[in-house]
Amino acid sequence: MTSPFKRYVRGFGPARGLKGLALVLALLVPLLALLSAPVWAFALLALVLAGAIAGLPGSAAERMLARRAAQKVERGATEGRLHGVLDALSAATILIDARGAVVHANAQALSAFPALRVGTPVTHAIRAPAMTAALESVLKGAPSARLDLVERIPLERSFDVFIRVMGGKASARGAAHAVIFMPETTDARRLEAMRVDFVANASHELRTPLASILGFVETLKGPARNDTAARERFLGIMEEQARRMARLIEDLLSLSRIEMNEHIPPSGRVEVGSSIRSVLDALSGLARERGVVFETQFPAADLAVRGERDELLRIFENLIENAIKYGQSGGRVQINLERVEDAAVGASACVKVRDFGPGIAPEHLPRLTERFYRADVNASRGQGGTGLGLAIVKHIVTRHRGRLGIESRLGEGSTFTIWLPLVPLLEKDKP
Ligand SMILES: Nc1ncnc2c1ncn2[C@@H]1O[C@H](COP(=O)(O)OP(=O)(O)OP(=O)(O)O)[C@@H](O)[C@H]1O
Ligand SMILES: [Mg+2]
Repeated sequence: MTSPFKRYVRGFGPARGLKGLALVLALLVPLLALLSAPVWAFALLALVLAGAIAGLPGSAAERMLARRAAQKVERGATEGRLHGVLDALSAATILIDARGAVVHANAQALSAFPALRVGTPVTHAIRAPAMTAALESVLKGAPSARLDLVERIPLERSFDVFIRVMGGKASARGAAHAVIFMPETTDARRLEAMRVDFVANASHELRTPLASILGFVETLKGPARNDTAARERFLGIMEEQARRMARLIEDLLSLSRIEMNEHIPPSGRVEVGSSIRSVLDALSGLARERGVVFETQFPAADLAVRGERDELLRIFENLIENAIKYGQSGGRVQINLERVEDAAVGASACVKVRDFGPGIAPEHLPRLTERFYRADVNASRGQGGTGLGLAIVKHIVTRHRGRLGIESRLGEGSTFTIWLPLVPLLEKDKP
């Protein structure tokens, strides 16, 4: 392979003969002039020739200039290739010089740290004491450093940062001296935190009813052994607590079942209106008990979606039950079904469940579908809730390739909306 430098130097080959000729002339002409011409003419000639020689291609000065230029071209090409490689990396990567100033930052780095600028210290854009300390140690001679970096603004993101000195001389300003490689660990951390939270929450949810059951067993075996009235009451509470545990375990199992099948879209066909009606029948007792009336609006012809009936019943049951339980003060729950064109889902069956209760504060809205998350823990526990209902709803909706929307205003109530893709009409059924 011909390097740009070699090509450049080879270009001077024919000029070498010219240089020889010039040298001969430079020696001969002044000698002749010395014999016949005045001194000033000799000096002038010598000056002109010296200038000509220095100016000729192939002189030592010119060769040095050529070599420098070629090295620059070569370095530029190598740097260009290196930057190209860094830009192709999926992790944020930054090259710094021996003073800690940015030489190059790839697109990932610029999007994570928009304040990065070539030529300014990297610590101006990444302001974390651990980062400053690690950089200092590398710039003072340590071969490498590693740290966990957590950025909290604008969003919490975490990175596993490696700083490693690159081979070669580390002096020139603007020359790459070390590489900062920063794979993002935000998702891994979030998953780990979720796993730990999940185990803690599940254990806590099971421990409370279990402790209560054990307490009553102790009482029944001891002080209340012969107290028939107390026994009846305690057995009732124990039954309620045991049912609560059973429900929790049932919910956890169905959640993991739905999650496992999430990538397999359902193949059945479900009539949405008739499914909602059957849920309303099942919940009519609860609604009456809480003084809540249903107001429904359905299209004349039922809408069919691709789905798993049991899973869809689960969605409607949880949304309507939540509206009754948490929105009972509003006294009514509206359930609407209509056909809509949704930008994300396409032709869909849109189900809206609206209550007129206390509503949900905006800070809770993004987290409502997390497992065990409750806007009002005591209200939910008091209603026998586990905080898994909306997590199950979200997974079912995702499996059905649909969408869930939650709107709420404090004091005005909440609206939960589900969009489910309609079964495409057969040619013969089209109007
Ligand atoms: N219509 C609503 N109005 C006010 N708050 C609601 C409403 N629906 C849900 N929430 C809040 O969201 C939380 C989560 O609801 P989710 O259905 O996931 O759990 P849950 O009802 O507590 O338990 P489960 O559904 O397992 O019985 C509830 O605890 C409640 O605080
Ligand atoms: Mg619920």
